[in-house]
Amino acid sequence: MTSRISTGLWALLAAFSLIIAAGSLRYLLPQVPGIPPDVAKNLMRQPWLVMHAGLASVALLVGPIQFVPRLRAARPGLHRWLGRIYVFACLAAGGAGLLLAWGTNAGPVAQLGFGTLAIAWIVCTAQALRLAMARRIVEHRRWMIRSFAMTFAAVTLRLYLPIAPILGYPFMDGYRIISWMAWLPNLIVVELYLRRAGLRRSVIVPA
Ligand code: HEM
Repeated sequence: MTSRISTGLWALLAAFSLIIAAGSLRYLLPQVPGIPPDVAKNLMRQPWLVMHAGLASVALLVGPIQFVPRLRAARPGLHRWLGRIYVFACLAAGGAGLLLAWGTNAGPVAQLGFGTLAIAWIVCTAQALRLAMARRIVEHRRWMIRSFAMTFAAVTLRLYLPIAPILGYPFMDGYRIISWMAWLPNLIVVELYLRRAGLRRSVIVPA
């Protein structure tokens, strides 16, 4: 039963990740269709937005694969290679995200919300990498779960965007709140999960 719930939850996370990544990859086209007008005004848009959207999409696509226990056990080499790709994508997209946070047209609340998210994303991912290299696998796994909670902010942000306009509030007010709400609840949920699960079962990655 528990494993069926976990599989269902994983499939849902993977499907949302795939949809958002596919939509974001349009930023790699020479003429970007449907760029939000406020994002087009971002002071750091050139060249950082293309790099950010492209690499963050890679992180969203690779992340869910890394959490499949059977694949990790059967193909540890593949897990390591995809892990390197995921870490590179998060660190580079996070750096670009920090610059975009500085350049946003949405004002200081959003600058701080996105900026804090970018730093948290980089810190969680770097910590997960360090622990993997030290072969401290249980802790590595905990930090990768935190890292993906940050990556998944790209999905939660887009799910929350319609809420303010539907309730009759200005889009920009909602956007500023979402720069925090897209990731803080993700982090809280993950911390509660990690505390509850304890993650006592260590994941063995052969040397
Ligand atoms: C998790 C850390 C992330 C941070 C700190 C971050 C930060 C930002 C910032 C500041 C902007 C510009 C927004 C503005 O000008 O108001 C932006 C835009 C964008 N980001 Fe991220 N982002 C993150 C994750 C992701 C991920 C995982 C994706 C995955 C696809 C992504 C895709 C995009 C896209 C496509 C845009 C352009 C705006 C749009 O079309 O909706 N970001 N990001």
